[in-house]
Amino acid sequence: MKRVAILISGGGSNMLALVRDIGQGGYATPVLVASNDPEAKGLEKAAAQGIPTAAVDHRAFPNRESFEAALAEKIDAAQPDILCLAGFMRILTPGFIRRYEGRMLNIHPSLLPKYPGLHTHARALAAGDREAGCTVHEVTADLDAGPILGQARVPVLPGDTENSLAARVLTVEHQLYPQVLRRFAAGDRTPILL
Ligand code: GRF
Repeated sequence: MKRVAILISGGGSNMLALVRDIGQGGYATPVLVASNDPEAKGLEKAAAQGIPTAAVDHRAFPNRESFEAALAEKIDAAQPDILCLAGFMRILTPGFIRRYEGRMLNIHPSLLPKYPGLHTHARALAAGDREAGCTVHEVTADLDAGPILGQARVPVLPGDTENSLAARVLTVEHQLYPQVLRRFAAGDRTPILL
């Protein structure tokens, strides 16, 4: 049974989608939900599901490395086999990534390699794209550039705003990430295209 830790920064809707699928599929067990923000609403949601939580406030540390050392301590105490970044909004150093490379996933709200980084929906709208979507990939030292494990597409509709597009993409994030995690937990890295 794979042990899964999930890192969040905000509402945790992707975390919840993963936790629900894990509960239905019985293919893994959630061992920790951790956040860089003690106020992240996702922490309450995880606790309500009976999942151990941890908050490591990045603002309480003098630099990225000391924050990541404290975060890694919490993660390693949970002894996860897989680490899922789900709406986690901190850039991770290569040193941190090396600790978990090969078993760390992330979901990014664009069809990578288009629009790595931030403001993905605004950039897709500005470019006049007819479709948008999300990507689940393995995390490597190259930001948003690791091996792609899944992608889901949505149409861009006339009159779309950043918010309406983000909401449409979020619905397929919640479909894609659990499917990728199931496959990844089974040792299968064949990409899923929705
Ligand atoms: C969403 O914008 C999603 O596209 C990205 O992180 C943000 C927050 O997601 N992955 P969540 O609700 O905290 O999972």
